[in-house]
Amino acid sequence: MKAASPLAMRLLLVTGKGGVGKTTVSAALALAAAKRGKRVLLVEIGPREHFSRIFGAQPAGHNEVPVDENIWAINLHPYRALEEYLETQLPSRRLVRLISHNPLFKQLVEVAPGFRDLITLGKVWHLESQREAGSNRPKYDLIIVDAPATGQGLGFLQTPGAFVKAIRFGPPRTHSQWVRDLIEDPARTRLILVTLPEELPVNEAAEMAKAADEKLKVPFELVIVNGVAPRLFDSSDAAAIEKLEADPEALDRLSQTLGEGLDAAALIRIGKDAIARQALNVHHIRRLRARVRKRTIQLPFVYQTDLSIEDLRGLGEIIIDESNTP
Ligand SMILES: Nc1ncnc2c1ncn2[C@@H]1O[C@H](COP(=O)(O)OP(=O)(O)OP(=O)(O)O)[C@@H](O)[C@H]1O
Ligand SMILES: [Mg+2]
Repeated sequence: MKAASPLAMRLLLVTGKGGVGKTTVSAALALAAAKRGKRVLLVEIGPREHFSRIFGAQPAGHNEVPVDENIWAINLHPYRALEEYLETQLPSRRLVRLISHNPLFKQLVEVAPGFRDLITLGKVWHLESQREAGSNRPKYDLIIVDAPATGQGLGFLQTPGAFVKAIRFGPPRTHSQWVRDLIEDPARTRLILVTLPEELPVNEAAEMAKAADEKLKVPFELVIVNGVAPRLFDSSDAAAIEKLEADPEALDRLSQTLGEGLDAAALIRIGKDAIARQALNVHHIRRLRARVRKRTIQLPFVYQTDLSIEDLRGLGEIIIDESNTP
């Protein structure tokens, strides 16, 4: 499969282990696409809503709300998605309410995770198929799904195929097939795996990539290594730091120059920590590259307590620049 720019797609499924930066990468990609005139929908699934907060907008809930120029967000609720689906299938709203308010039915939705996933992806399919009134232009040019953390992540994407296999005929089979065809379509969809340059996240990303290649038919060609320590010092700086550390007189002079509150030993420690962290990151990125034969894009660790929209814009541009590099 030829590597394509993520922005040439209709649907990006951003996944990875918990806390690695899936939401950050999704928002960064949305900003990069919006800047190029695309209308983007950010989709999240789960009790806690992030996108509206990141963009300082009103909470979205199960309705699309504008959060920035050319960017909308929605927080999918499987139960609401199911009600909407039933409304398209059943002749009366009363009947829908009768079914959907039935406690047994509610229980079925809760205990059948595959079913919930299918309904949620079905809603994504529906959003992708929406067109502007009176035209063939898609309502959203690009839909970015901040998918659940790995583990659940894979099962989530296997569901439509599993339903197609399990159901022999009827509308549910046809609808599962539509969803499956969308998420497996190399012209429209890409899976993007996010990880960190650390021991466990790299191991998990490698396992996830293997599972995605072996078990999923979702097109997948990009791994984003997030939070990479920037290269602050080169090898000659490292040598200079070592030399300084071994020279007590020079250390003294430096401490005096620095004045109160900062001593040379502390400064050396900070420098050495930064060098060690960067070296460790390089080591884990090498391990990842050896195990996962995909394009990898590195995003720097940003030294901020809360990433600003400008920071996210910067990260988005790195992803796009790198993916356009042959
Ligand atoms: N490159 C970066 N530099 C600095 N901080 C970052 C970077 N990427 C993400 N963060 C911060 O790390 C935290 C986790 O990131 P994020 O919420 O994007 O991860 P996630 O994979 O979506 O987590 P979860 O699995 O909980 O949904 C956030 O506070 C985010 O601002
Ligand atoms: Mg998240």
